[in-house]
Amino acid sequence: MSETPSRRPDGGDASPSPDGAVTVIDRVAEFRARLDQARAEMLSVGLVPTMGALHEGHLSLVRRATDECDIVAVTVFVNPLQFTSGDDLATYPRTLDADLDVVAEGGADIVFAPSEAEMHPDPTPAPATATAMTTGQFGGLTDVYEGRSRPGHFAGVAAVVARLFDATGPCRAYFGEKDWQQLLVVRRMVDDLSLPVDVVACPTVREADGLACSSRNGRLSSNERRAALALSGALAGAAALIDAGEHDPAVVRRHLSDAVAEEPLVELDYAAVVRADDLAPLDRLAGDVRLLLAATVGGTRLIDNVGVTVRTDTSRLVQRRSA
Ligand code: PAJ
Repeated sequence: MSETPSRRPDGGDASPSPDGAVTVIDRVAEFRARLDQARAEMLSVGLVPTMGALHEGHLSLVRRATDECDIVAVTVFVNPLQFTSGDDLATYPRTLDADLDVVAEGGADIVFAPSEAEMHPDPTPAPATATAMTTGQFGGLTDVYEGRSRPGHFAGVAAVVARLFDATGPCRAYFGEKDWQQLLVVRRMVDDLSLPVDVVACPTVREADGLACSSRNGRLSSNERRAALALSGALAGAAALIDAGEHDPAVVRRHLSDAVAEEPLVELDYAAVVRADDLAPLDRLAGDVRLLLAATVGGTRLIDNVGVTVRTDTSRLVQRRSA
């Protein structure tokens, strides 16, 4: 068990815990055994991978998992492999006690909070690990946008998520649309490796004023917090432009970057208008489209995105006919 004592004094079993107790496990072997036991009891398993510092966005994933699965494990592990050189590994918030309260509020049963040595016993560098795991390189998904700005990031994500899936076994795994590109990479990895995991996408949870909930929001000064609204504001404006009939991706992209540029405290990294399911560039907007933004506010890097379904005239006709 971890240094944080189990909230279930008897160590618990793999059955769901109606009393709201959360069992904390820090060993892969114990975690695996608990979930194997649950499946042997015919219980369905839900997995919510996180890096902790849990907020309403994470809580929504936990709630969805507890609604849909018999036993739910939340993993809390700040994965060093996915932080690149300019990143904030040392200062990433670590708040396990508060996280346990959020997990209990969401009704989950297990927190898996392994040490770094437990999670990554092999010092193989992340890119080699990821390359060995898949020949498909996730269909080029890892080299663009977040992958270009943070080289090696998705190899690190894939390495830890693959290990978490392996430790968990067959399950439904809940990921947020907030990290759209990560969601696609994980889906692609599951397909490439035929992993026994159903990936469930959960909508982005926002603060009342529109800012996407993020573990990094707490670092923003009040001025930066106000300026950060430029991201969600730009996305909402661009989505409205598309709804009003604009189908040229270049125009929508320009709207995004111009809207962000109006806020001097925000430095744009990228603005993109892409096909939702593979991030492919588009000549003309049609079908499921995703608008992606990444920017730095003060010293804090934030990402956000929204989805828009663009109905062409033909599909409108088809819709009307089938209605
Ligand atoms: P983390 O940033 O802690 O996020 C954990 C999960 O919560 C991810 O699936 C993320 O998309 C989701 N999430 C974060 N903010 C959200 C919001 N506002 N609304 C809905 N969902 C939100 O993503 C990671 O950790 C790591 O890369 C991980 C997958 C755990 C691998 O280390």
